[in-house]
Amino acid sequence: MIKKIGILTSGGDAPGMNACIRSIVRAAHKNNIKVVGIEYGYKGLLNSNFINLSPESVTNIVHKGGTILKTNRCEEFKQKKYRKIAYNNLRNENIDGLIILGGDGSFKGAYIFSNEFKIPLVGIPSTIDNDIYGSDYSIGFNTAVQTIMDSVDKIRDTASSHERIFFIEVMGRNSGHLAIHAGNATGAELVLIPEINIKNLDSLVKKIKKINIKKKSVIIIYAEGCNLGPVDKITNYVQKKMKNSNVRYSILGHIQRGGSPCEKDRINSSLLGYYSVKEIIKKDKSKMVGIINDKLIVQDLKLSIKRKKEINKDLFKITEIINNY
Ligand code: F6P
Repeated sequence: MIKKIGILTSGGDAPGMNACIRSIVRAAHKNNIKVVGIEYGYKGLLNSNFINLSPESVTNIVHKGGTILKTNRCEEFKQKKYRKIAYNNLRNENIDGLIILGGDGSFKGAYIFSNEFKIPLVGIPSTIDNDIYGSDYSIGFNTAVQTIMDSVDKIRDTASSHERIFFIEVMGRNSGHLAIHAGNATGAELVLIPEINIKNLDSLVKKIKKINIKKKSVIIIYAEGCNLGPVDKITNYVQKKMKNSNVRYSILGHIQRGGSPCEKDRINSSLLGYYSVKEIIKKDKSKMVGIINDKLIVQDLKLSIKRKKEINKDLFKITEIINNY
């Protein structure tokens, strides 16, 4: 029987992580399972940064951004000798199951660790990138889209008042989910994503010119992983080719990861947290809980690290059509 579990948050923080931690702690309490918070992600597992989490200790955090457990990207955990230390630390603390909140990098470590030392483990997709295969939803995505929308709407005021062309760089690492959703919701005239290579810069310039003639200002959502490279260089190139226009760029950066979680991120985080406890009780190795078509699902963690989540092609195509005329 599982008597004590550990929770850790790993990789980039995401709004909703705290709502999820709260849900795990309270659901575990209902099942007479003790919960230990492991601070600083996998690094904390190596250094035994353990704190006891009681149902009262997670009061007043459902609305808070970031993660009360702190987070980290831990290079050492890629080596077996360090994972062995982590395992011994877990044993010493009598932790017999782990719940990991993170993205694909964190899941890779979780998968190896769970199988290597036969530890029951459940992963919860938590990344604003929303790029985890097997789940439509990942903690933090919706709040990040909202933050991007708020920023782009503001830039749009300047873009249209000055009749400017704006490249707006958004996060997402190697995926364009954030860019596509934000692009649709803000009416961006163009969305450039890593999944679709731009082979010819001049044809891009031609496209921008065509839109600019009609609309007099252009918003281009530029996913950071785009094949074209740094947004400042692209902006300069386009400016040179469009001498009579004013071309600017804006990098939204880490503002996209912060802030109080929106309704969907609070509710889904709570559901996923609750569900992860139901799963850990079964003592399975390396599972992941997720949401598909608004239903909670469980899948092998292996799938989520082996496969790449596809972009929503329909949304991308429809966005291109309806955001232009
Ligand atoms: O994975 C989440 C993410 O915010 C990516 O979108 C981005 O590329 C990366 O993390 C930034 O990481 P860091 O905060 O370590 O610079």
